[in-house]
Amino acid sequence: MQKDDAKLELPNKEAVELAIKHGTLGQPVIDIQQLGHQGYFTFDPGFMSTASCKSAITFIDGDNGILLHRGYTIADLVQNSSYLELCYLLMNGELPDQTQSDNFSSEIRQHTLVHEQLRNFYSGFPRSSHPMAILCGVVGGLSAFYHDSLNIDNPEHRHIAAMRLIAKMPTIAAMAYKYSIGQPFVYPQNNMSYAENFLHMLFSVPAEPEERPDPILVNAMDRILILHADHEQNASTSTVRTAGSSAANPFACIAAGIAALWGPAHGGANEAVLNMLEEIGSENNIPKYIARAKDKSDPFRLMGFGHRVYKNFDPRAKLMQETCYEVLNHLDLLDDPLFKLAMKLEKIALQDEYFVEKKLYPNVDFYSGIVLRALKIPKSMYTAVFATSRTAGWVANWLEMLGQPPLRITRPRQLYTGHTQRPFVPIDKRT
Ligand code: CMC
Repeated sequence: MQKDDAKLELPNKEAVELAIKHGTLGQPVIDIQQLGHQGYFTFDPGFMSTASCKSAITFIDGDNGILLHRGYTIADLVQNSSYLELCYLLMNGELPDQTQSDNFSSEIRQHTLVHEQLRNFYSGFPRSSHPMAILCGVVGGLSAFYHDSLNIDNPEHRHIAAMRLIAKMPTIAAMAYKYSIGQPFVYPQNNMSYAENFLHMLFSVPAEPEERPDPILVNAMDRILILHADHEQNASTSTVRTAGSSAANPFACIAAGIAALWGPAHGGANEAVLNMLEEIGSENNIPKYIARAKDKSDPFRLMGFGHRVYKNFDPRAKLMQETCYEVLNHLDLLDDPLFKLAMKLEKIALQDEYFVEKKLYPNVDFYSGIVLRALKIPKSMYTAVFATSRTAGWVANWLEMLGQPPLRITRPRQLYTGHTQRPFVPIDKRT
């Protein structure tokens, strides 16, 4: 890393020299760690201007719509890779050779089952539970089953916990779906790819003759998994790092990530897009909803639009759009009214001055919900699919953080705006 300095003059005229750090790509960062000792904190709600860690996993150039995982473009990975190969890359830093790839896949396969006793967790949930509620509980609960991999200071424990999480997420998510519709849980099939096995566990019914999932739909699921696998220091990944910074166990950390992902501003957006499209209902209503999205007194936002980092286009959205056309064409759904409504809404928004001026473009979730709907995955499962995929990014970031000792607890400060010190008033003296 090269270094140069920035100078900050404090109100007492004292000058503080702050090192400027350069990564291999992207904006330089001003290292403000010493400011606290000078009696000042920085104020940056929502981390609009804060780099919270050093990472070598993912790079985003939001102005130019670039997303790199370990230096490879997302388009390159989508075209040439598979989800498990990407998991290996994110975790290990390099693409696997054939032997490494085979070993990695076979190790994942060893962990696809969940403990039979874990199946009992599900019956404690109402059938109407949101799958994300089940995921938060069940994934956190995994810590109770794997005492042999909870020592976070042991690299072997960290590795096996990471592999267990990646391997078990589709099983746990598919079980949440099966539970919600009252069907028996379907065991994983280890002769299938990760994406195929996920579709198998979601849609196979033991009483029906076994039919392998359609390869085009398997390919679409693999793309969905690749496109959501990691995304730099987003809210859920930062949450996983924050939980991990206190030395919490990996299953608890990933459960924290699942909770942060659930919100509609983050991973919950794919479900929210479909809810919004159903609410809009017809092309005639689009102007009314565009007007609502622009009205500051109305909390309504155009779901699937806008991004904290991408201010030109979301490269994942472009790739997801391709998959969307491929799947809808394959299933003869290009005339589907909801899809046509979505395309019309996108066209109108992209020409609207408000969206142009604020650089609000469709993000990956604008299209992913439409693809997932075509795959016959119910809306309530969309964010669970996202969580399954993002587990790769969460564990890669968690592993990276623990591999960069010393582990320092995430402990931000605040700008206090409450009362100054005051005496306690006994209840009979309060007015
Ligand atoms: N519809 C209408 N107005 C919007 C929207 C939208 N979808 N997104 C942002 N704006 C406006 C916002 O009101 C604000 O206006 P002003 O400057 O006048 O106050 C301006 O654009 C900047 O928005 P912001 O909320 O300050 O931006 P942010 O970086 O904090 O938020 C976001 C980014 C993704 C949370 C936001 O764009 C949003 O809520 N989008 C809809 C939800 C969504 O699709 N989320 C999925 C994100 S991609 C998947 C993932 O990685 O999680």
